[in-house]
Amino acid sequence: MKRVDDFRLKFGTKEYVPIMIGGMGVDISTAELALEAARLGGIGHISDAMVNDVSDRRFDTTFVKDKTKLYKHNILNADKSTIKFDLDILAEATRRHVGATMEAKKGDGMIFVNCMEKLTMNGPRETLQVRMNSALDAGIDGITLSAGLHLGSFGLIADHPRFRDAKLGIIVSSVRALQLFLRKNARLNRLPDFVVVEGPLAGGHLGFGLDWAEYDLATIMAEVIQYVNTEQLNIPVIAAGGIFTGSDAVRFLEMGSGAVQVATRFTVSEECGLPANVKQDYYIASEEDIVVNTISPTGYPMRMLKSSPAIGDGIRPNCESYGYLLDGNGNCAYITAYNRELASHPDGKNIVVMDKTCLCTQMRNFKLWTCGQTTYRLKDTTRRNPDGTYQVLSAEHIFKDYQFSVDDQIALPV
Ligand SMILES: Cc1cc2nc3c(=O)[nH]c(=O)nc-3n(C[C@H](O)[C@H](O)[C@H](O)COP(=O)(O)O)c2cc1C
Repeated sequence: MKRVDDFRLKFGTKEYVPIMIGGMGVDISTAELALEAARLGGIGHISDAMVNDVSDRRFDTTFVKDKTKLYKHNILNADKSTIKFDLDILAEATRRHVGATMEAKKGDGMIFVNCMEKLTMNGPRETLQVRMNSALDAGIDGITLSAGLHLGSFGLIADHPRFRDAKLGIIVSSVRALQLFLRKNARLNRLPDFVVVEGPLAGGHLGFGLDWAEYDLATIMAEVIQYVNTEQLNIPVIAAGGIFTGSDAVRFLEMGSGAVQVATRFTVSEECGLPANVKQDYYIASEEDIVVNTISPTGYPMRMLKSSPAIGDGIRPNCESYGYLLDGNGNCAYITAYNRELASHPDGKNIVVMDKTCLCTQMRNFKLWTCGQTTYRLKDTTRRNPDGTYQVLSAEHIFKDYQFSVDDQIALPV
């Protein structure tokens, strides 16, 4: 039987191990994790979600504190529309996060940045433009556009000198979404360099409704590959979502997938940004503990552990400090839900908000445990410590297990 290592992802004349570690915000796919993927010859992702906060934590900048100070007067105001991102600061934070990561890069692989377009930041167009341009300025190898794909996004960076040399990719969940993007993008004469097809078992936000279980990645992949081949597009199509073993990956590579994008198995790696105790929560999860719900204010269903402390937590919206989910009019579905509950509890105490979550604060504090559908299998990938906890794995161990395993076997740590 073949191994993943028998295949290569080709971009022009360059070849890579066909394993891409998916972007996981907020700083769950850390620079350290992405750097390991690149060192091992594959592709890693950092994420630019809440990049001002990520910069503060990595480089001791004070971007969030400064913003909080600036908008402190608004904290009790239900109207958040005046809260804007300073575009120079956003650019600086992005350049720091991306620049430091790229400077540390070793090996033959690449590092991309995952840009979730649903982070509309009370100025969807200009903030996305700054995020993408600054990442290119700082030398990122490529950009993967996800969640909330805006059909004109490539156009926002068309004037950047690296527009044609950096790798630009998109995440879609249907052949229709890809067709729409290509049609809209045609005037730029700039095709995506890769297309990630994310199926219904992925972590994070889903490109499906609550009927996600009726879809299947292999079927969507077959449709996308057929379309790309018929149109002679020569774009690698990358399968994502629920690929748990090297053999799962081989099955997609054999059907014409250019690579696989994987994430869940790396949530329990040493390099992953989740706190150590949360990694144990991922390990102990059973299948019944994993839910897809609609509490994300983005409007997309999201998969998570139902023990996530974020669920039901009625904290005051923190837009003065964060505000990444504010739409172009300064609204966020969590603010609406919170204000509704506040109206029935005017003392502001014991507020419970079940239908939405304050995604910025909860992701930033690692209280919303988004995960892939295969999370309940993580316990089978490791050994237990004498104290009963599960052993955390190195990213290298997991990467190589994908790369070299056969017969659906999973290598346990030595
Ligand atoms: C903890 C976690 C966080 C994620 N966050 C993001 C994200 O911020 N943006 C994104 O495009 N995809 C995100 N994803 C999706 C992954 O990048 C990836 O495509 C998918 O999870 C692959 O499937 P797998 O987890 O079954 O391997 C996330 C996945 C996980 C597990």
